[in-house]
Amino acid sequence: MIAGFGLAGWQVRGVLAPAETRTTILFNQGLNPVVTGAPSGWTNAWCGSCHEREYQQWQGSRHNVAASAHNFEVECLEAGSGRQQYCLNCHAPRIGAGGLPTSEPPSLDEAYRQQPEWLVAGVDCLGCHVRDGVVVATKVTQKGIAKHAMRKDPALGQAEFCAGCHQFAFKDLDLPDRFHGALQQASLEEFLEYRAAGGVETRCHDCHMPRGGHRMPGGYDDKMIRQAVGMELDAEWIEPGRELQVTVSLRTGRVGHRVPGGEELRFLTVRTEVLDDQGRQVGAHEPVGPAEADEVVVTDRESAAWPIVETLRRHMGDREHGRNLQAPPAPDTRLKPGETRRYTYRVTLEPRTPVQPVTVRSRLWYHLMHDGKAELFGHQLKDVQRVVRENEVHMGVPAESPTDR
Ligand code: HEC
Ligand code: HEC
Ligand code: HEC
Ligand code: HEC
Ligand code: HEC
Repeated sequence: MIAGFGLAGWQVRGVLAPAETRTTILFNQGLNPVVTGAPSGWTNAWCGSCHEREYQQWQGSRHNVAASAHNFEVECLEAGSGRQQYCLNCHAPRIGAGGLPTSEPPSLDEAYRQQPEWLVAGVDCLGCHVRDGVVVATKVTQKGIAKHAMRKDPALGQAEFCAGCHQFAFKDLDLPDRFHGALQQASLEEFLEYRAAGGVETRCHDCHMPRGGHRMPGGYDDKMIRQAVGMELDAEWIEPGRELQVTVSLRTGRVGHRVPGGEELRFLTVRTEVLDDQGRQVGAHEPVGPAEADEVVVTDRESAAWPIVETLRRHMGDREHGRNLQAPPAPDTRLKPGETRRYTYRVTLEPRTPVQPVTVRSRLWYHLMHDGKAELFGHQLKDVQRVVRENEVHMGVPAESPTDR
């Protein structure tokens, strides 16, 4: 009997052992900081002493400055919008355990004065790769184990890993362990939308970590923006010298979510204008309805003002902020992956004899943030926006006269 109980106890323990929860590699949308259990002496620089390439790439990444960069510091220290544990749980996840996600981390101002190592490092090797005191990787080799304790976790190689920080909603001040309202960043949802529409990539890594690259470029990188969206410009005379029709087409390229992706701060504008041979803006214009576009185009353009400006942006309204769930959803005019969008305008010129040549110009601008945020961060608008594509069509005077047609 006694032997029997002993055996049963052993069996039970045997069954429970694999069920013991190991600390997951997945982040939880900023609800908690990470606990790495890294042995003393495990610093990012130590990792870098062997993994030089990853270290250098990471040093040139936004992850590396996620907590120390100017914009974050300003907003994190701002009463009202920042000063909450959860900001740091994502931007510097090795911050020591704090209180509730919405409470103020102890000695926050002091931390920015002292610049402790976890703050300077931001999203780092230890935060992404170390749990329970071992290196977590998608591949474990004898060569690796000889250098450090390791364990395999396929989750690191999946979109959910990135989404643990790259998809989240606002935190509720009264119920700090839950989310409310729509997602402030919706990278995973948008990626799933892309996959459902036939997108071939299975993970964020396929585009953001080519060959295991750790720079993980995004909105600060012109090459990435240009990869995401192409522009074409067509113009033809309706009546030479008097009226022309202009069509600007945007086509998404290799991108796995809406454009621009990420923070709701980011947006695109398309600015189109018609210039005379002196470079002066000419003509009055009217848009031709959305009939020619794949999608219904919602814009907040002021009619007939030069240049014609289309805004592609996600707006966070009352409903999205969770303040009024009955409010209608705020418009999202960003491009969907795989989308082609056309904006068509009729432009009427002052009649002139002889007919003058004109130039039609379209520019695609990428905006890191809107003017309110630029002001908060103390940036001039010109420093937070840039032209990523530009097209021109020169409209010569047609050889034949209009009556010949
Ligand atoms: C003394 C040298 C050394 C140090 C220091 C070191 N590593 Fe490694 N690491 C290795 C070697 C060698 C391998 C095995 C590479 C192989 O099998 O090709 C490895 C493997 C890995 C892998 C898996 C590689 C793969 O191909 O999937 C990861 C991830 C990793 N290390 C992360 C880290 C992190 C994070 C740190 C710091 C906490 C660190 N390493 C510190 C030498 C080192
Ligand atoms: C934002 C999270 C993140 C950070 C920060 C990060 N890594 Fe990685 N690392 C990953 C992911 C994700 C993979 C790829 C897993 C896969 O696809 O198999 C990876 C892969 C690796 C590999 C495997 C070989 C390769 O290049 O694919 C090594 C080695 C490695 N990381 C070392 C480091 C070191 C050293 C640092 C710090 C300098 C670091 N990582 C910082 C997420 C991160
Ligand atoms: C621990 C949280 C965390 C994880 C995990 C994480 N990120 Fe990030 N990531 C951030 C934060 C915070 C920023 C913003 C940094 C900044 O711009 O100040 C960021 C920025 C970025 C950017 C923008 C870069 C730019 O130039 O604007 C890209 C792209 C990105 N991450 C991709 C990824 C991918 C891909 C993964 C998964 C392999 C991943 N991240 C995992 C927190 C994380
Ligand atoms: C098919 C390629 C592709 C896939 C898959 C992909 N991205 Fe992107 N991503 C891009 C391109 C190109 C850009 C630059 C244009 C833009 O901002 O939308 C970008 C931009 C971003 C940005 C904006 C950075 C900024 O500065 O605002 C973030 C954040 C981001 N991606 C995260 C992710 C995450 C997280 C996933 C997975 C859930 C993912 N991406 C999947 C191609 C891809
Ligand atoms: C769940 C993770 C998470 C939480 C929580 C979070 N962020 Fe972020 N934050 C990110 C990611 C990811 C990005 C990068 C998105 C991109 O580049 O488009 C980002 C971008 C930013 C940026 C823009 C960086 C730049 O200069 O381009 C600022 C500023 C910022 N966050 C401030 C905050 C503040 C303040 C809080 C707390 C109120 C906060 N964040 C909470 C993940 C998070």
